[in-house]
Amino acid sequence: MIHSRLGLADADSDAQLLHRVIEILSAGLDLDGVVQRVADLITETTSTDVCFVHLLDEPRGLLQLRGATPPFDQFARRIELPVGDGVSGWVAAHCEPTVITDNKRADPRYLYIPELRGEDFTSMASVPIITRPGDLVGVLNVHTRDRREFTKADVELLSTVAGLMAGAIENASLQSKLAEREAAMERFAEQIVLLGETERRRLAGEIHDGISQRIVSLSFHLSAAADAVAADPAGAAEQIARAQELAAGALDETRQAIAGLRPPVLDDLGLAASLESLARSIPLPNVAVDAVTTDLPEHAETAIYRIAQEALQNVLKHARAEHVQLRLSVVAGAVLLEISDDGVGFDPASAAGRAGPVGYGLPGMQQRAELLGGQLTADSARGRGTVLRLRVPVAPGH
Ligand SMILES: Nc1ncnc2c1ncn2[C@@H]1O[C@H](COP(=O)(O)OP(=O)(O)OP(=O)(O)O)[C@@H](O)[C@H]1O
Ligand SMILES: [Mg+2]
Repeated sequence: MIHSRLGLADADSDAQLLHRVIEILSAGLDLDGVVQRVADLITETTSTDVCFVHLLDEPRGLLQLRGATPPFDQFARRIELPVGDGVSGWVAAHCEPTVITDNKRADPRYLYIPELRGEDFTSMASVPIITRPGDLVGVLNVHTRDRREFTKADVELLSTVAGLMAGAIENASLQSKLAEREAAMERFAEQIVLLGETERRRLAGEIHDGISQRIVSLSFHLSAAADAVAADPAGAAEQIARAQELAAGALDETRQAIAGLRPPVLDDLGLAASLESLARSIPLPNVAVDAVTTDLPEHAETAIYRIAQEALQNVLKHARAEHVQLRLSVVAGAVLLEISDDGVGFDPASAAGRAGPVGYGLPGMQQRAELLGGQLTADSARGRGTVLRLRVPVAPGH
């Protein structure tokens, strides 16, 4: 075991510590591995007794303990504190190091965390872990049992170690984001297949139940007409008239089945006017439509139209609303569809848990939104109406 003092005028051991940190960082370990090894190394090579590494969980605004000198490593990922709370939280919030030489409890920033046994340690130094571009990724702390002055050089050495770690932490988190994106792409691919499957099933159903039934009856009437044509021309004419009706009906249903794939109104009128016509076709009393003209790829128009259709169907079926508003607008880099009603509302959290068949209802809308790289949110509460928002990013040039 090497016992240097942190930042002692002994430049050799400082250099050695940094050298070993770099070795760990370049060993290609995962994030937790890196953090834990650095914590071990700091305790091993400096005259401090414990080292804690807290990483920032930015979306939640929390610092999470991720690496610590044993036995405290057992609390990794189990201790969290909000940025701003405790000494580490203060260091994170201010992005500046701090040293407490003794009497921590007198420091207004100090927060006692029983698991970390603050009473066993006297002095501490805490430095922010900051990347080159200046983003905070965590906080590095060292504690000593005995009272100890941390010099400016000590703090500088710790900051250097933290700076080296910052890049590795950022890389590891980028890598896990990349892996997450890759998994999302795979899910999207599955959803595309499922949506295609759903469309095919719908089409098969329509052909089977509507169109082919009519063609069967139609050929039945034609046979009857053929049999009657010599002996009973009037009866034959009647059978032929019935057959004509059925042919017209089958043609109608064929059109409808195809329209189900891409609403023809989109090609005829464009998205904005299609949404207006959709809103008019739904038997709801007050539907206000405010839709701007957009320039979106066909599949995006179809998805937006289908989502609006299902949203309005939901208002009709569930909301008991007096007023409904449908808005299509263009905001920075995105197209925004909003359907709001002043109806009974619902609890989106419990509706989201419902495992609906793919392609229908809220889960289907969600999937269509995800396939567009967009986001769909339902903002609702019982008795407070519902706002459904779809945000679709627009590629530059569109
Ligand atoms: N605008 C709304 N107002 C009130 N409740 C709503 C609204 N939209 C959805 N809901 C609630 O959310 C639930 C889920 O909606 P979803 O569209 O997924 O299913 P559904 O309409 O019941 O069935 P379907 O699969 O035929 O669409 C509904 O059953 C309803 O309780
Ligand atoms: Mg529905």
